[in-house]
Amino acid sequence: MPAVSCSAPGKVILCGEHAVVYGTPAIALPVFQVATTVKIIAKPIAEPGTVLIKAPSISLDDSLAALDKKNPLRAAVELIMQELGIHHLPACEILIHTTLPVSAGLGSSASVTVALARAISTYLGHPFHDETVNQITYEIEKLHHGSPSGIDNTVITYGTPVYFQRGKPMEYPKIARSFTLIIADTGIKGSTAEAVAGVRKCWEADKNSYETIFTEIGLITQRIRCNLESGNIESIGVELTHNHVLLKHIGVSNSKLDQLVNAAIQAGAWGAKLSGGGLGGNMIALVDPDLAPQIAQELIDRGAAQTIIATIPASSGERL
Ligand code: PMV
Repeated sequence: MPAVSCSAPGKVILCGEHAVVYGTPAIALPVFQVATTVKIIAKPIAEPGTVLIKAPSISLDDSLAALDKKNPLRAAVELIMQELGIHHLPACEILIHTTLPVSAGLGSSASVTVALARAISTYLGHPFHDETVNQITYEIEKLHHGSPSGIDNTVITYGTPVYFQRGKPMEYPKIARSFTLIIADTGIKGSTAEAVAGVRKCWEADKNSYETIFTEIGLITQRIRCNLESGNIESIGVELTHNHVLLKHIGVSNSKLDQLVNAAIQAGAWGAKLSGGGLGGNMIALVDPDLAPQIAQELIDRGAAQTIIATIPASSGERL
């Protein structure tokens, strides 16, 4: 096959992050306005086994063999080959193009692995089932983030809203009415691994208080799910803002995130919160679609590096 190209979306966590690591539910949504595309181009005249890997967004242009063994891209290709039962790839060039900002809570690492697993397996004539893509991506997420809950790989693999609870079968919430989110980037890189480790340290020091907060976040997530299912979209706003306050209590917000959350609410958003690991990265605001452009502009005026207006379509709750 001369060339194959596969894509994967980004994602946002609507609610429940961090607490999800401790067993409560979270809801994540795919975001198709940003995406990763992996293209595999055969190089039949190159030396067999020569694999070049190019990812301009991280200034990577090298041979796969030259990458450190612990490099997540190399580890991903090796895990994909292992799953396919092969030791070498035919000579090729792997081009990774992503419009997702890195370390911004939009799932860039999972998006790259999903697109890579699909592209390589399709290129070799054995396209993986989603379950395999999800499992491989989860393994690689561990290299990026330490002990991830599994929510990022799941929502990005299946490309549909997910209600995720560790150790339980995945559920797909019904979205009775479409809604609009503004996703605004603080421009500050947030390390999810650092944020998760920081929460763990505090939880170890004061389990009672932290578990009370995690339980409250889990209840917020359940109420949000009910409102998504009944189409009561506006009332989700106040829950999101409450979720932000609790995330702030566990130490994963920062002044820029708080500033953008407040700016969104002052500009007329129904509610807003940080999304993902925090300590930087993105925040989300739930807005009336008619007001979205003006609230997005207000966020830029108040220091957001970039905004995305995302429409989350209504869905039946069936797997797409
Ligand atoms: O920073 P993100 O978008 O990858 O989200 C991390 C979500 C956490 O709940 C903080 C960690 C996890 O593994 O679920």
